[in-house]
Amino acid sequence: MATRVWLDGMVTDAAGARVPVFDRGFLYGDSIFEATRTWGGVPLFLSEHLDRLERSAASVELTPPPRAEIEAATLATLAAANQDPGQGESNLRIIVTRGEGEQGLDPALAGAPRLVVIVREVALPAPELYLTGAKLAVVRRRKDAGRDHSVKSSNYLENLLALAEAKRDGAHEAVMLDGEGRVAEGTTSNLFLVKAGRVVTPDVGVGLLPGITRAQVMDAARGDGIVVEESRPRPADLVGADELFLTSSVRGVLPVTRLEAGGEHRIGDGRPGPVTRRLMELYQARCERDAAAFRARHG
Ligand SMILES: Cc1ncc(COP(=O)(O)O)c(C=O)c1O
Repeated sequence: MATRVWLDGMVTDAAGARVPVFDRGFLYGDSIFEATRTWGGVPLFLSEHLDRLERSAASVELTPPPRAEIEAATLATLAAANQDPGQGESNLRIIVTRGEGEQGLDPALAGAPRLVVIVREVALPAPELYLTGAKLAVVRRRKDAGRDHSVKSSNYLENLLALAEAKRDGAHEAVMLDGEGRVAEGTTSNLFLVKAGRVVTPDVGVGLLPGITRAQVMDAARGDGIVVEESRPRPADLVGADELFLTSSVRGVLPVTRLEAGGEHRIGDGRPGPVTRRLMELYQARCERDAAAFRARHG
């Protein structure tokens, strides 16, 4: 599959996708975004992602292009990237910056918002990881209490440094804590534990991005009669859990079987547990349904 980018009203290839240095996304991280993947070639939970993009825009007082325009640009870019049949699945990133203008923090200096859509081949975790489980590491870097973490802005410095810290511990993803030492989320994922058959995930008040996958998984679990609690677990609760897993639009439900938290801990019996495996199945079924509904709507 070719990488294709929507930029300033047209589709271009990766080499042609150049944003001016005076774009505020570059200068100040003054932009918001969404990221998802395709499922069977169609964008997964696109309307939920566009809803969240609108919420992020409202939170940072940015007026995005009309939703229909963003959706049309996304589909045009996806079609251009997938011109040859038999291609794999795509990663989609929809970015809206406040645009460019005279240098200076004042948002009033911005011109029109800039829409960028990047479509490229999706990079998924190795399939074995879904069978053996990933490793998490609780990192020392704490989440900034002064920020609204429910906004998906392009300020990922805190998260990327946390990921680098986790990688030094040989982990696939970091566990980020809030200032009080409570578990918040991963650097690009939400976290869940299972204890005595109940599913527990940090509540949004701790300071986290309410994931689209998180919401799907919570809903699927409740629909299956599994109790789901939103609370304020601490690293010790992760260590003592029967099962752990993470969720994100790209990775779906990924089991976690090892945790670095002042030493390496094995979670449960060291293999993905039954509740996690059930939720993986239920989530996949939801992805199939969402893709079928998208195809039905778009012919
Ligand atoms: C900080 C953060 N938390 C959680 C998630 C998971 O969200 P979603 O399920 O919507 O992909 C992401 C996704 O990239 C993220 O960046």
